[in-house]
Amino acid sequence: MAEKGFKYVILGGGVAAGYAAREFAKHGLKPGELAIISKEAVAPYERPTLSKGYLFPESPPRLPGFHVCVGSGGERLLPEWYKEKGIELILSTEIVKADLAAKTLISASGETFKYQILVIATGSTVVRLSDFRIPGADAKNIFYLREIDDADKLVEVIKAKKNAKVVVVGGGYIGIELSAVLRINNFDVSMLVPEMFRLFTSDIAGFYESYYEKKGIKIIKGSVAAGFTADSNGEVKEVKLKDGRLVEADIVVVGVGARPLTGLFKGQVVEEKGGIKTDGFFQTSVPDVYAVGDVATFPLKMYNDVRRVEHVDHARKSAEQAVKAIKASEEGKAIEEYDYLPFFYSREFDLSWQFYGDNVGETVLFGDNNPASPNPKFGTYWIKDGKIFGAFLEGGSPEENKAIAKVARVQPSIESRDLLAEEGIAFASKI
Ligand code: FDA
Ligand code: NAD
Repeated sequence: MAEKGFKYVILGGGVAAGYAAREFAKHGLKPGELAIISKEAVAPYERPTLSKGYLFPESPPRLPGFHVCVGSGGERLLPEWYKEKGIELILSTEIVKADLAAKTLISASGETFKYQILVIATGSTVVRLSDFRIPGADAKNIFYLREIDDADKLVEVIKAKKNAKVVVVGGGYIGIELSAVLRINNFDVSMLVPEMFRLFTSDIAGFYESYYEKKGIKIIKGSVAAGFTADSNGEVKEVKLKDGRLVEADIVVVGVGARPLTGLFKGQVVEEKGGIKTDGFFQTSVPDVYAVGDVATFPLKMYNDVRRVEHVDHARKSAEQAVKAIKASEEGKAIEEYDYLPFFYSREFDLSWQFYGDNVGETVLFGDNNPASPNPKFGTYWIKDGKIFGAFLEGGSPEENKAIAKVARVQPSIESRDLLAEEGIAFASKI
């Protein structure tokens, strides 16, 4: 089998890979120096589109429309861009063995790839109900969502099964976003949520739950999926709940969490908090090996902590930081350590929220969180040691979202919680 060698290899072809490639190109690359190896068949794209616009009934975005780096307002890196820059895109290629001591990767079809510097950007995979041996979890029409192939299967079933009953298992990000888009497709949607929507506080979660119910989504609480029944074609028919209830389903969509893909490196790198441990330059415990995006457990300088973050903003920024660090070390220069302000966001129906900082300490809720309001707009500040550590805002303007980012970064002291609740977003806008 052929062997190929590169100066730099990015393993994984998702969000972080695309942003890393752009950063390499900015610093100047010689043709053939960089390769991206991905098991997906397409060039890096903005994964968040898959649970939102990609599934819209009308004018859904399609590739090449959402290749990176459009998600952060940058240039769209089409497959031609990689060609022009002399970057080799090695697609539909799964790496099944990594030998970090020998600086070698081996693909499922037996190809060998050598590198001098490796950037691990393998992201996460879905947790499957079959991992828990839930009976019937392999029935037809039970779907998961991580990659574009998964999204295409959903697009097909959305077209094929008009007016179907959909059960969404899970009240995390995937469950919340997919329930909305399936409802927009006019399906009869029920959500199976063990406790509450997993969104920060019970006030915040409660607002979205009521909003969803007003949109006609049924929220079934207090139990988990314990099994599935199927018809004679093997297609899912019912979800069995642990408490004995049965819920009819023509389609089931599961979002019960993600697992970082670190398995290839077990025993070869130091791990922490479920990810590959890195320093503030995303260097791992192995020389010349970096890890970025979902798989990296990194020092979160602001909070003097180490964390793993499964959100797109960090995937982009950690990739850029790692490449800057690689280039700086080649030139014998130093760069600043990663100093990340956590940023998460989501959009469902006409709603749109942003969160910055750390959700620790006491909370102060402000604004109009009545789900029946024509334009609900509300937020929450998190206060620790008399200072604002985190801020959430639903329905903010771009300037207001910038203001909550700033407040979380600056961590101003507050005099009175009541005053803060009264001032609401105006407090952040003054900072
Ligand atoms: P990512 O998962 O993007 O890429 C990993 C790549 O590695 C994939 O191409 C995979 O195929 C490849 N790979 C893995 N193992 C391999 C192997 N052995 N060989 C070859 N290739 C391999 N975040 C947010 O902040 N806001 C949002 O709205 C959303 N929305 C959203 C929707 C959906 C549907 C998902 C699944 C996720 C989100 N996220 C999000 C999370 C965000 O997308 C996620 O944190 C980033 O994509 C992580 O980027 P990475 O590059 O680390 O992994
Ligand atoms: P999650 O961890 O956000 O939520 C999982 C949910 O499943 C939890 O509410 C949990 O209580 C529930 N659950 C677990 N077992 C269950 C069972 N047997 N029955 C019913 N419910 C069960 O994970 P996710 O929503 O699957 O998201 C996957 C990944 O995608 C994460 O990394 C997430 O950050 C990312 N993502 C992020 C966004 C965003 O930031 N807007 C959007 C989509 C996906």
